Amino acid sequence: MRIPIVQQIETLVQEIPGWSPLDQLYTLFNLAYLTIDTQGDFLEIGSWCGRSASVLGLAARLLGNTTVHCIDLFPEKKDWRQNTDGSYSFMVEIDGVTYGSYQEQTVWQEPFERDIAPLYENHSGIFDLFTQAIERSGMEAVVKAYRGDSEICKRLATLNIDCKLAFIDGDHSYAAVCRDIHNVERVLVKGGWICFDDAFSHYEGVSRAIEDCIIHNPHYGFCQQMTRKFFIAKRLQNS
Ligand SMILES: C[S@@+](CC[C@H](N)C(=O)[O-])C[C@H]1O[C@@H](n2cnc3c(N)ncnc32)[C@H](O)[C@@H]1O
Repeated sequence: MRIPIVQQIETLVQEIPGWSPLDQLYTLFNLAYLTIDTQGDFLEIGSWCGRSASVLGLAARLLGNTTVHCIDLFPEKKDWRQNTDGSYSFMVEIDGVTYGSYQEQTVWQEPFERDIAPLYENHSGIFDLFTQAIERSGMEAVVKAYRGDSEICKRLATLNIDCKLAFIDGDHSYAAVCRDIHNVERVLVKGGWICFDDAFSHYEGVSRAIEDCIIHNPHYGFCQQMTRKFFIAKRLQNS
């Protein structure tokens, strides 16, 4: 007998560290599966240890012919630094380029010490944890990881990779979300969706970026908010 999908999702993520709760993962799965009548792949900006990536992988596997492209800076322990107010940010160097993250929307000391620091006790970095989680969940055939920021979309576009769903869950500052929107547009097909995490909740930068770049943009429509996920479609035709 086939295991119910909600149970498959719970099993997939139960050992994967992260903050995405089950109700939001069900929502993400539903949205991903609803792309069944559109051609293209899934794109994720901000994957951490792989909770949402595994769920997107499950939907991709059920749909067939769909890859999940996961982009993250995947910080190592040495990349984190404590700010004068006690909170944390990180700077990562990848192929000679330095990327700063959580500079504006920093990580508070308590969640850093409780949820992030312990991950580095047995692992060199988040990429290691992500790779192990994807292998454990058996998703390595459908999930592909890239270390960098959303500028990688330029490379995906030159490879003619089209995406029917882009999930944006990286740096939550206004400038970073605007940049992520701009970059995912390079690969998003007409009729495809952008889904934002933490929209219209506690992250002013995320909400303002959605309002400024998307809500009044005539290329987008059919927006909905489910749990903390806000999603909106790129119209087939301008209206
Ligand atoms: C909230 S976590 C993502 C959680 C993940 N979606 C999940 O469900 O488990 C945010 C992630 O964004 C990554 N990140 C931060 N700034 C980034 C940037 N500029 N480009 C790409 N990823 C970034 C962090 O390394 C972190 O893994």
